[in-house]
Parts: sequence; structure tokens; C-alpha cells
Amino acid sequence: MTKVAVLGYGTVGSGVYQVLTENATLIREKAGEAIEVSRVLDLRDFPGDPAEKLVTHDFEEIEKDAEIDIVVETMGGTKPAYDFVKRSILAGKSVCTSNKALVADHGTELIRLAEEKGVHFFFEASVGGGIPILRPLNRCLVADEILSIEGILNGTTNFILTKMADEGSDYADVLKEAQKLGYAEADPTADVEGYDTCRKIAILTALVYGAQVDYEDITTEGISGITSVDIAYAKKMGKVIRLLGMSRREDGRLYALVAPFLMGPDSPLYSVNGVFNAISVTGNMLGEVMFYGQGAGKEATASAVVTDIIEAVKNREIPVKIRWDEKKQVVESLDHMKNAFFVRIDASEKSAASAAFDNLTWVDGVADGEVGFVTGVMTEKEFEDRIAGLSTIKKRIRSIS
Ligand code: HSE
Repeated sequence: MTKVAVLGYGTVGSGVYQVLTENATLIREKAGEAIEVSRVLDLRDFPGDPAEKLVTHDFEEIEKDAEIDIVVETMGGTKPAYDFVKRSILAGKSVCTSNKALVADHGTELIRLAEEKGVHFFFEASVGGGIPILRPLNRCLVADEILSIEGILNGTTNFILTKMADEGSDYADVLKEAQKLGYAEADPTADVEGYDTCRKIAILTALVYGAQVDYEDITTEGISGITSVDIAYAKKMGKVIRLLGMSRREDGRLYALVAPFLMGPDSPLYSVNGVFNAISVTGNMLGEVMFYGQGAGKEATASAVVTDIIEAVKNREIPVKIRWDEKKQVVESLDHMKNAFFVRIDASEKSAASAAFDNLTWVDGVADGEVGFVTGVMTEKEFEDRIAGLSTIKKRIRSIS
């Protein structure tokens, strides 16, 4: 029997309890032994909840309980999560977490520490909710040089963008709905401004290339500036707008970016709607492979945490090595990264735009007095140089050409 403590009994933490209880029989078969939650740490009490009697407000009780083998951290944020996770590892316990802020900020140290102590530090649920992506990157896609990884990594923003386009819903109403459904972060600014996606692409990039990435080096734009007019332009072009996190190797340089992108039906990410996430990985031998599933939400995310718990139980004797060196990877400025761009300008500048760029695709008839155009693929620097002469730019959104 493996005893587990859950730190943080919110959406995901209570989901972990639910999955371990409802699927107890099959989990026992798959892990080779029973797995049971014996302690729950939270500031609150949960009268009437099935885990009511397991609640403690004192982390030391868990830290000093030698029978607890695995600590699940689903508190979010780094304070006090980092302290509790570090102390758990130092006490010889494996840790399974859904907390991307913790992994993005302290992953390098916690992975090393776990290795030194001969325990696991697993964080599958920190990226892509229920989608298995980190274990495949660490254990399966290892024969290839990975050329790029890009995806829809935030369920809340995808839910908002989908509903705004499909139902013409108001941004604030959809955000409230996402919060009610347990998709959004405690502070939804992290979702809509792209910070959540930024941490996730930093984690993916670190795993893909085997060395830490400082998420502060990643250019990050969110969706708070996307308006119903932008969405109307996208519709007119038969496209959608999605928030993407991506990292690519181009000409030996590593680029990483979080930004809204326009994309058409030829992109495999085009049909990813609602809370679903999808991650596309391109290897030099494998070509493109896609991972798709529910990127947020109680049961889906808890399922990924419980998979980590089972992995920790099954690999107790020989901890799984995670390739994640301390030497920081250099993320280049975007100057030489290649993208296509959608731009909205006053109709009066149409001929100036035609003179500045070759081969533009024009879109008009969406909003009075203005036009939109899509450029070909060019470096970010070239794009900046070419639009510098235009004075009526209303919006610019990158585009998957
Ligand atoms: N707020 C996150 C999202 C939760 O919406 O994707 C899962 O990481």
C-alpha cells in the first residue's frame, strides 16, 4: 500500500482524491499495490467532504510521517509550494505536481534534488492538463532532433476565443464561465496575458532540448487585445485566432514565443476548440506528431497527476531520469524568426502598404474605413522595417501562412 498526501484541496487536489477513490481497483491492478490518500493539507476545512477527516493544516505532520511515500502538490503558485515540495523531497518522498509556476521557476533544482535523493519529481499535469506530453517527450521522442514544438497550451483562452467566434459571446462573460468550470488560474490575468502559456512552453522547451529555459526570456503576448473586429476578419478569411506557445530551431538559433496567431483549416491546430489543447512536435526523422486532449479541468488534470503517482510507485527502485541540465539555453531575440503577419490599416493607406510589401493578400468589407492584409513569410525584423512607414496600423497579429 502506498500512502499519498495531497497539498491543496482545490479543483485539481480534490480531483486527485476522486480519481484515486473512484478508480481504486484498476489503479491497484496497474500499480501493483493499493494507493490511498492518507493526508490532505489545506488552510480550509471541508465539512461533509469524503476527505474531511484527512485534513490537516500543518505541513510538518506530512513531512514527518514516514508512511507517506508520495506528496501531490496542487496548491499552485510558488509560495509556499516550493518550500513544501523541497522539504518533501529532502524527506525522501516523491512529488507529483500540476504546478507549472513551480516547475518553470524551480524545476531545475527540484529535478536535481530528487535525483540526488533517489526519488521522483514528476510534473506531467503542469502542461496540457490531461494530455500525456511530458513523458512522451522525455521517454518516447528521443531518437529525433526536435525541430519545433508548438501548441495551444491554455484551455481558458482557447475556450474564450472559441466562444467569442462561435457564439459572438462577450469576453468577460466567457471568462467568468471558464472560472466557474475550474479552467482559469486563481488570477486569470495569467491565462489571458499568456503568462500561463509562457511557463508551459518554457517547460516543454527545457524537456525537448534537455536544458533549462528562463521563461522571462520568452516574448509573451496574450489575447486581451483581441477584439470582435479581429475575429470578424478571421472569419472572413475562413480562419480562427488561437493563442500559441512555440519554440523552434531555425538556422541553429532557438526562438520561443507566445502570441495569438491566425490560422486556417490547413493547420492541424485549426479545429482545436473550447478547453481542448493540442501540441504539435516536429522531429527530423519522425516528422510531425500531435497530442490532443482536455487542457484544463478537474478530472482531466487529476488523471495526469494520478498517472504520475502510478509511475512513481512502479519505478520506486530505479527513479526515472529527466534530461534537464542546469546550463541555461539561450533564447534568441525574435529579429530573425520567420512568420507571416495580418495587419489592419486605414483604407487610405492601401497603396502605401502595397508599395511596402510584395504579394499581399487583401481582406476588406469587414469594418468601415479600413482594410486588412496578410503578408508572406518573412523575418520579424523585415516585417518591422516594412511596416515602419505605415502610420494607421490598428492591429497586427501573426499568422500561420
Ligand atoms: N488555467 C490553465 C488553463 C489551467 O486554462 O489551461 C491548466 O493549466
